[in-house]
This record gives sequence, C-alpha cells and structure tokens, in this order.
Amino acid sequence: MSRRQVGSTRRFVDTGSFPFAGSLHSKSRSSPLLSIGLILVGAALLICLAYGGSGIFGGNKIAVSKVEGDFLCTSEVQRAIPLLKKAYGDSMRKVLHVGPDTCSVVSTLLQEEETEAWGVEPYDIEDADASCKGLVRKGLVRVADIKFPLPYRPKSFSLVVVSDALDYLSPKYLNKTLPDLARVSSEGIVVFTGFPGRQRAKVAELSKFGRPAKMRSSSWWIRFFLQMSLEENESAGKKFEQAASKKSYEPNCQIFHLKSYH
Ligand SMILES: *[C@@H]1O[C@H](CO)[C@@H](O)[C@H](O)[C@H]1NC(C)=O
Ligand SMILES: *[C@@H]1O[C@H](CO)[C@@H](O)[C@H](O)[C@H]1NC(C)=O
Repeated sequence: MSRRQVGSTRRFVDTGSFPFAGSLHSKSRSSPLLSIGLILVGAALLICLAYGGSGIFGGNKIAVSKVEGDFLCTSEVQRAIPLLKKAYGDSMRKVLHVGPDTCSVVSTLLQEEETEAWGVEPYDIEDADASCKGLVRKGLVRVADIKFPLPYRPKSFSLVVVSDALDYLSPKYLNKTLPDLARVSSEGIVVFTGFPGRQRAKVAELSKFGRPAKMRSSSWWIRFFLQMSLEENESAGKKFEQAASKKSYEPNCQIFHLKSYH
C-alpha cells in the first residue's frame, strides 16, 4: 500500500515538471543577454524544481506518514463517508464516531445534510485546534477512555463508526468495549481496523496509546464478532461494496458492517 503511494508520487512529479520545462524555453528565447539570461533561468528553474519538488513531495509525505501512522483508518472514515451514506442512507442521521482525531470526522459529518454527529476521542486532545475545542465545548466531542462504558444511553445513535481504536485494545477490553459500542447504537456499527502487517504506530506514539496496535486478520475479527454475538449486516456490506466499486474505491483499512443488538 505504501508502495502504491510512492508510485502515485512519482507520477505526480513527472507531470508536474512539464510546465517548468516549457517556461524555460520561452524565457531563454526572449532574453537579450543570452548567457546571463540562461544562468538566471537556470537558477530560477532550480529554485522552481526545489520548491515545486519539495511542495509535491512534502504534500505526499504527509499522506504517506498518515498511511504509515496511527490515524490511517480515521482518515479512511473521512474518505468513506459518501459510501457510508449510500450504504446506510437514513441510518446516517445520528452518527457517533469513536477514534483518534474524531474532531475531523465529526466536522466532516456535520457538513452532510440530515446528519447529526458526535465523537468520542479515546486519547488526549491537548493539541486540539479552535474548531475542535468548539466541538468539545458544545458537548459534541468528548474525551473518554473506551475501556470503560461510554457515557451514553442505550441506542443513543443510529450508527456507530469506530476507527483506529480497537486495534489498541487487548481481547479482555475488547470483550467489554465492542458490546458497549453495540449498546449505544440502534442500526449498526461500522468497524475500521488496520490490515495486519501494513502499519504500526510510530515509536513515539506507543506511550500515548499504552500498548502497540495489534492488527488482526479479518478471520480473527469475524470470529471475535461471533463470540460477541454481533452479526455482519450483509445488506449494508453489499451496498457499501457496490458504491465502492463504482468509485474504484480501495480501502486502506478493513471495514466490517455489524448489526446492533436487538
Ligand atoms: C471474551 O469473551 C468470550 C465470549 O464471551 C470468551 O470466550 C473469552 O474468553 C473472553 N476473552 C477474554 C480475554 O476475556
Ligand atoms: C443493515 O443495514 C441497513 C442499511 O444498509 C439498515 O437499514 C438496517 O437497519 C441494518 N440491519 C440491521 C439488522 O441492523
């Protein structure tokens, strides 16, 4: 996956360099003092390439480090919102997102028509920006340790979406947290988890999360969901797949569609 990212970076740079080459030609032809002109143009070109290059690379480096970092699945949730709308339609009216960087997801969801959104941030948000602090002040986003019961009544939300949070829990805590996510939802739970072997938390982040993320295989999760009596919502999954293939969307995370308890 990170390899594909690098590939797309390269294509970006290739196409990006054509305009610079073009401007070099036109400028050198119109310059009366050819040699000085050439030197200036050469310098300008170098600066352009350095800036353009670092801009392009810099931009992609953020994407790549996100891909390899911890919030991969939270950014995946953002990307998947239009597909989730297709799959869940009316069930998207009251959404709870649980996961790091939840402010970004909540803000995006709030832009959708007919969607109310709340968020639970499992880690700290000391470095939150003003808009995130605003969401916390309004009570839309809460900081809560998801090892303990969530501070909401049963079936408070139509849909609960969780990302980058369950990977950090041992089975002992998962046994409590997952049923609790089901408890506060009425029409479904969507779980975004990392693919095994694809990403790991940066060393500096380990202390923050308490333990390293453990990326489990899809068969591990499916077995776990069954133990918790959480069934897959096949119809939602199918609708999601259909919408995804129409948009050539390939998720960077595993996505599970589960039914709430009845
Ligand atoms: C989690 O719950 C399942 C089923 O209730 C049980 O079989 C399993 O031993 C539990 N695991 C842990 C680590 O508590
Ligand atoms: C399954 O998902 C659909 C949305 O595609 C939803 O309307 C339905 O309520 C869900 N079924 C259950 C049993 O949660």
